[in-house]
Amino acid sequence: MAGYRNKGNPGLMGWIDDRFPATAMWEDHLSKYYAPKNFNFWYFFGSLALLVLVNQILTGIWLTMSYTPSAEGAFDSVEYIMRDVEYGWILRYMHSTGASAFFVVVYLHMLRGMMYGSYRKPRELVWIFGMTIYLALMAEAFMGYLLPWGQMSYWGAQVIVSLFSAVPVIGEDLALWIRGDYLISGITLNRFFSLHVIALPIVLLALVVLHIIALHEVGSNNPDGIEIKEKKDENGVPLDGIPFHPYYSVKDIVGVVVFLFVFCAVIFFFPEGGGYFIEAPNFEPANPLKTPEHIAPVWYFTPFYAMLRAIPPIAGSQFPGVVVMGGAIAILFVLPWLDRSPVKSIRYKGMLSKIALVIFCVSFVVLGYLGVVSSTPIRTLVAQICTALYFAYFFLMPFYTKMESTKPVPERVTG
Ligand code: HEM
Repeated sequence: MAGYRNKGNPGLMGWIDDRFPATAMWEDHLSKYYAPKNFNFWYFFGSLALLVLVNQILTGIWLTMSYTPSAEGAFDSVEYIMRDVEYGWILRYMHSTGASAFFVVVYLHMLRGMMYGSYRKPRELVWIFGMTIYLALMAEAFMGYLLPWGQMSYWGAQVIVSLFSAVPVIGEDLALWIRGDYLISGITLNRFFSLHVIALPIVLLALVVLHIIALHEVGSNNPDGIEIKEKKDENGVPLDGIPFHPYYSVKDIVGVVVFLFVFCAVIFFFPEGGGYFIEAPNFEPANPLKTPEHIAPVWYFTPFYAMLRAIPPIAGSQFPGVVVMGGAIAILFVLPWLDRSPVKSIRYKGMLSKIALVIFCVSFVVLGYLGVVSSTPIRTLVAQICTALYFAYFFLMPFYTKMESTKPVPERVTG
């Protein structure tokens, strides 16, 4: 039993282990957590997501020390952080660019899961906790973007919150309840601030803990999609497993260094990401009387925004678009039950699955682009096609994964 390890031993660790399972936890999650030996670079993104989470929390705490959460003071306090607070500029850019980095890392992390079938039995809950993290992360980023109280903060929030009013019957009351006012105001800013700095970070941290506990209960998948626990030596150690620490703790440092190199380059030379990480109108204070010419969310939301715009309103109601947009996220939750392939990894799946995944990724990226630019009839048509392709990936999955012939999966991991 894990809890009994190193109990009754002399020394400080023995004393601690008699009272708290420190050694047992260290062993279960690090030095005796056996991870498949064939992890490739796609496996960096989990630990990088952890790194970015820590970055967001630390820089967020320091930003909060100088930020004023009021409609009158918010914009000026951000300017004050950028110009007068010692190292305020780098704290702010680490946080605002960090938000974009978070989504880059999480999208790649999710793509890895989709490629290698990491959502499949027995990792369904790892995936569902992951999807819940993704939802919480979207809420966290959306609320954070209101805080600088710039033009895009204001009007972006206005557009998104008013989507809730498209819900039949309760819509108007719902939007009013979220805003706490008839329009986005200082009241909305106060509640978004409180949710952004305390409620959602707690939820995110708790979900990440659940995500990793669930993963360590069943063990990691790998690029071959083989269950390494099925082949163990006489001591119960998986033949294709290596202790996470020191092997992967060291390997992950390589990913961290490469990531920090790119992240620093962006922060120092390209902090606003050409208007993609912080949009140009956000350098102007919020003005409820002046609508910006072109309202678009930050890049990580634009695929869903493009879907919203692609669906024509019915009788003036945007509700169908809202349903499609919500459905695009909801359908990811049931992915584990849509994939009927006898194999997990894309390496051994057939051509249909490979083509489907490529089409899915291309449509997602094209939608992302279309959500940034203003709409024209031809762009709307392309967005409609890409939305259909996005959903086809999921709806047709039970069929193409069953129909296609797969390659034989090796007994032991390769590479
Ligand atoms: C704050 C965000 C997140 C953090 C900190 C995080 C952390 C981690 C870590 C440390 C691992 C183990 C290392 C690895 O396999 O890369 C992992 C695995 C995994 N994560 Fe996440 N994750 C996050 C978000 C997500 C999301 C949004 C999803 C999907 C919806 C997801 C799905 C998975 C899956 C399926 C695995 C198992 C992969 C495998 O064994 O092949 N995670 N995560």
